[in-house]
Amino acid sequence: MPPSLPPSRRGFLFLALLLSACLAAPGAGGAGGDGAAMQALRRELAPPGWGPGADHCAWRGVTCAVGGGGAVTAIDLPRRGLRGDFSAAGALPALARLDLSANSLRGGVPAALGALARLEFLDLSMNALTGAVPAALAGASGLRFLNLSNNALSGAIPDELRGLRELQELQVSGNNLTGVLPGWLAGLPGLRVLSAYENSLSGPIPPGLGLSSELQVLNLHSNALEGGIPSSLFQLGNLQVLILTLNRLNGTIPDTIGRCRGLSNVRIGDNRLSGAIPASIGDATSLTYFEANTNDLSGGIPTQFARCANLTLLNLAYNRLAGEVPDVLGELRNLQELIVSGNGLGGEFPKSILRCRNLSKLDLSYNSFHGDLPEDICNGPRMQFLFLDHNEFSGGIPRGIGGCTRLLALQLGSNNLGGQIPAEIGKVKSLQIALNLSFNHFVGTLPRELGRLDKLVTLDLSSNEISGQIPGDMRGMLSLIEVNLSNNRLSGSIPAFGPFQKSAASSFSGNAKLCGDPLDVDCGPIYGSNYGMDHRKISYRVALAVVGSCVLIFSLVSLVVALFMWRERQEKEVEAKKAEAGEVVVAAPQVVASTVFIESLQQAIDFQSCVKATYKDANELGNGTFSTTYKAVMPSGMVVCVKKLKSIDRAVIHHQTKMIRELERLAHINHKNLVRPIGYVIYDDCALLLHHHMPNGTLLQLLHNDCNTDGEKQKPDWPRLLSIAVDVAEGLAFLHQVATIHLDISSGNVYLDSHYNALLGEVEISKLLDPSKGTASISAVAGSFGYIPPEYAYTMQVTVPGNVYSYGVVLLEILTSKLPVEEEFGEGMDLVKWVHTAPARGETPEQIMDPQLSTVSFAWRRQMLAVLKVAMLCTERAPAKRPRMKKVVEMLQEAKNS
Ligand SMILES: *[C@@H]1O[C@H](CO)[C@@H](O)[C@H](O)[C@H]1NC(C)=O
Ligand SMILES: *[C@@H]1O[C@H](CO)[C@@H](O)[C@H](O)[C@H]1NC(C)=O
Ligand SMILES: *[C@@H]1O[C@H](CO)[C@@H](O)[C@H](O)[C@H]1NC(C)=O
Ligand SMILES: *[C@@H]1O[C@H](CO)[C@@H](O)[C@H](O)[C@H]1NC(C)=O
Ligand SMILES: *[C@@H]1O[C@H](CO)[C@@H](O)[C@H](O)[C@H]1NC(C)=O
Ligand SMILES: *[C@@H]1O[C@H](CO)[C@@H](O)[C@H](O)[C@H]1NC(C)=O
Ligand SMILES: *[C@@H]1O[C@H](CO)[C@@H](O)[C@H](O)[C@H]1NC(C)=O
Repeated sequence: MPPSLPPSRRGFLFLALLLSACLAAPGAGGAGGDGAAMQALRRELAPPGWGPGADHCAWRGVTCAVGGGGAVTAIDLPRRGLRGDFSAAGALPALARLDLSANSLRGGVPAALGALARLEFLDLSMNALTGAVPAALAGASGLRFLNLSNNALSGAIPDELRGLRELQELQVSGNNLTGVLPGWLAGLPGLRVLSAYENSLSGPIPPGLGLSSELQVLNLHSNALEGGIPSSLFQLGNLQVLILTLNRLNGTIPDTIGRCRGLSNVRIGDNRLSGAIPASIGDATSLTYFEANTNDLSGGIPTQFARCANLTLLNLAYNRLAGEVPDVLGELRNLQELIVSGNGLGGEFPKSILRCRNLSKLDLSYNSFHGDLPEDICNGPRMQFLFLDHNEFSGGIPRGIGGCTRLLALQLGSNNLGGQIPAEIGKVKSLQIALNLSFNHFVGTLPRELGRLDKLVTLDLSSNEISGQIPGDMRGMLSLIEVNLSNNRLSGSIPAFGPFQKSAASSFSGNAKLCGDPLDVDCGPIYGSNYGMDHRKISYRVALAVVGSCVLIFSLVSLVVALFMWRERQEKEVEAKKAEAGEVVVAAPQVVASTVFIESLQQAIDFQSCVKATYKDANELGNGTFSTTYKAVMPSGMVVCVKKLKSIDRAVIHHQTKMIRELERLAHINHKNLVRPIGYVIYDDCALLLHHHMPNGTLLQLLHNDCNTDGEKQKPDWPRLLSIAVDVAEGLAFLHQVATIHLDISSGNVYLDSHYNALLGEVEISKLLDPSKGTASISAVAGSFGYIPPEYAYTMQVTVPGNVYSYGVVLLEILTSKLPVEEEFGEGMDLVKWVHTAPARGETPEQIMDPQLSTVSFAWRRQMLAVLKVAMLCTERAPAKRPRMKKVVEMLQEAKNS
């Protein structure tokens, strides 16, 4: 309402509004009292787009019956950030569809919903609902689709629900349900989808399941289910997806599995299954994914797998399989991964498998394969992972290794290989993750060509018979982090090369004639050690180190003291100036300085509106370490994002000219993945920075299912998330290139434009608060909780590797969909520790990555595993071990293109 209206007119307007509201009410509230129930729902949930109009049929997400006088038939409000009680929905007798998924609903599933006899579709998934599934829900006997997954529900699935005879899809995964899967599920005539993975369910899979209905999807992974896989599942031949990984199932794989011509996905790993894989598997011709690792399966690998022409992944690792890899598997044109490690397989290298042109991972490790490696060891350009370690292969490394142009990791350790390491190894420029030739009998000298492997991170040549000097060319291995040349016959001095000298002595030990750092053997002018001299040298070094540290600590302390004194003086000066000028603090904002850098926007931006927007909490978009952001609508209609710097950094304001210079400089830095300031306002002792409004909010909101400003959002898919990760990495790599360190990397500072391109924000903060430039107190500069690198505790400095760490945390957030700090990790655990300690807890990457992403497709999962590796490197505890951002960008691009 325009404030200029005279009071009498204002009163009239108010009356008119009141009257129209009263007139509208009876019409809407008419049928069956839905009006009252809807008003109650609105009070509790306050969904955006509900009201103020009284006609609830016009509210967003509400559908009413045609000509039904306002009877509500459907409510669709997914992803609106809703919380509160929604039991009033139980008083909408015509309701057929209720979708409140992906909100923040708490408390129990309302028993009142059991009154909805017409309800067919109920989706309450992805909320924070607790307590037991109410038995009263059985009253909604028309339910066909029930989704309660991803909540915190507990207790058993109540037996009363046997009344839901119409159920077609039942999803209760990702809760804390206990007890058994009720037997009556087997009797439901229409059940097509049963998904109850990631609970604590025990007991058997209901016998007879699959006999009464056309069951298509059964996903029960990560429970404590016992007993066998019922053969009834396959009886009618409709099953398409069977996922039972990580349970305690025993018995054999039923022979009837071959009846399911449409079965594409079988994942039954990490159970106690025994017996042979039935030959009938060859009849399941749609099979694309067969994963049965870590069981007790015996017999041979059935040749019949060759009939499953679409087979993409075959994982039979860690069983008791014997015999050879059947030649006919070479016919599997689509096979990408063959994993048979940890069995009792033998015979020669299965050459025919190299006819699978799409094979990118071949894992034969921990078996008893013997004989020579084939000359063309890669199937052309696709092979990425060759794991042949812990076998009995003999002969040399074939020169054909040079043809492995995409190889990322080569594991040949613990075999009987010998001869010289061929120079062709230097052609495998793609080698990145590991080259491990340890525990073999390699002889001769190290090829200089190793120096060409500039992406390689891990090199293990230990426990061989390699002689000669370490070639200086190895300094070309720019990415090397872990090296092990121990237990060979190397001689001479270790070349001066960071990754070498930073290694443990045990990386070079066991070479009698090797000297130099990191071995405590001085090379001297002549070889042969002079103990006395060594000793003196060492103590000299220790003394130097001690003096050095003292000087360093002293200068740090002086710096801190000087900064505090400087700040105090600044404040005094300013107060003195204020007193001189006779300034009084006034309530109305007194804009001191303001500028819009971009000429075309100068007309559109009104500084007073920017200031006023910060007075209303309702405009608040986010709250960061250094600033609070607000949404401001200009009189011109333009929407601007206004960032108010927190008062802790008043020093910034007192350094206006400097700040303005920095801002102007930043406004001219043009990188597509960095948020640019478009202007600023300085008033009283506040500074506002202006940016373009980012309609899709922040990565934090996207990942953790808050809603954005429009209340509209889809759960992001993996390709989108990966491209966001690459965007942020590119923005940060650019910052590092222009010698700028970011002070607050977090998912809350990653903004998404209308095309979901990601831009890193809060860049200017780094310029305004850089402690080395004396514009802020040191204690303010720590970044956001959960993203702070461990070394910050003792260095009190944000560094380039520190940025890499924080970025790694963002990557982990993307991969796991978890926050950097969550209660579920336990005492003293954050996301980084939780992920790094997963192997020690016996958890696989599967259990860390968000299953909603990683189980969608084989390709996504593979990319996620690759990105997980990058994230692990970025969050290494030792700063020196973390890669540079430029490198991170490369690794992510590689993951993306794989
Ligand atoms: C919940 O399950 C229903 C029925 O199976 C399905 O249609 C819906 O998409 C699921 N909801 C989510 C958010 O995945
Ligand atoms: C699941 O339930 C068990 C007991 O039934 C409890 O100890 C555990 O904390 C619960 N877990 C979660 C995540 O709620
Ligand atoms: C499977 O395990 C159950 C106990 O959980 C046991 O009673 C049964 O004999 C086992 N069956 C087989 C075939 O090993
Ligand atoms: C193999 O996959 C292709 C493409 O997805 C599909 O068209 C074809 O029907 C599948 N073959 C079999 C035997 O299922
Ligand atoms: C490899 O797989 C792709 C699909 O991923 C397919 O188009 C191509 O034909 C396969 N290559 C061969 C040699 O079969
Ligand atoms: C290299 O392989 C051996 C087994 O042959 C293994 O023990 C060692 O840990 C591996 N080295 C690295 C650095 O992973
Ligand atoms: C290097 O390998 C040897 C085994 O050959 C091992 O004992 C040693 O711990 C390894 N060193 C490092 C730093 O990994």
